Amino acid sequence: MKLMIDDAHIEQIKKIYEFYPVDGVTTNPSILYKVGRKPFEVLKEIREFIGENSEMHVQATAETAEGMVEDAKYILEQLGENTFIKIPAIQEGFKAMKILHRENMKFTATAIYTPMQAFLAAKAGASYTAPYVNRLDNLGYDGVQVAKDIHDIFCENDFDTEVLAASFKNSQQILELCKYGVGAATVAPDVIFSLVKNKVVESAVDDFISDFTKLVGEGKTMKDC
Ligand code: E4P
Repeated sequence: MKLMIDDAHIEQIKKIYEFYPVDGVTTNPSILYKVGRKPFEVLKEIREFIGENSEMHVQATAETAEGMVEDAKYILEQLGENTFIKIPAIQEGFKAMKILHRENMKFTATAIYTPMQAFLAAKAGASYTAPYVNRLDNLGYDGVQVAKDIHDIFCENDFDTEVLAASFKNSQQILELCKYGVGAATVAPDVIFSLVKNKVVESAVDDFISDFTKLVGEGKTMKDC
């Protein structure tokens, strides 16, 4: 399962890239709003830092299919290779998806709340579809199960489309999808950090260091012995 950062704060992205194995960055208009700077200033900064080996997923914001396609072309022009255009899975969006597919532009169907939206997006040629796990949970549905159902639909129908599960609030939701082998998950920085932060783990490592210090002396490590 690929792991992406669902954020646009460059400092957070740099920190996560420094420590963890991640595959790219996804944004949406609300995420860009939270940064509060000019969208392409921020997005280009991210692209420059992560390089073209990492994926970037950036949303078209026009409300018509033709407008979404124009947005897509502009985004690709600005951000280059390995950029996926996020297209909302609404009626105009499906029309845009068919055009993007014909013109060989890669896209991620977003705002997925139902497996049928995902099925149609896969038929329209989506590389990824993004079910909103936690938002589904908040509506009283089972977000993890919806993402699993979509994964199954893709396998059963031999689609090349992958699930890019989104909208997580805890590591359990991510773990369930990891175990199921979905294609990718995009996760906000605070949840990524919480995947590892655990007092029991920290205490176990502290005990090792403390015992070793008693053995060889303060500040010494294996290389000093
Ligand atoms: C993904 O495509 C969405 O933009 C995003 O992950 C939604 O996450 P949220 O529910 O935390 O806003």
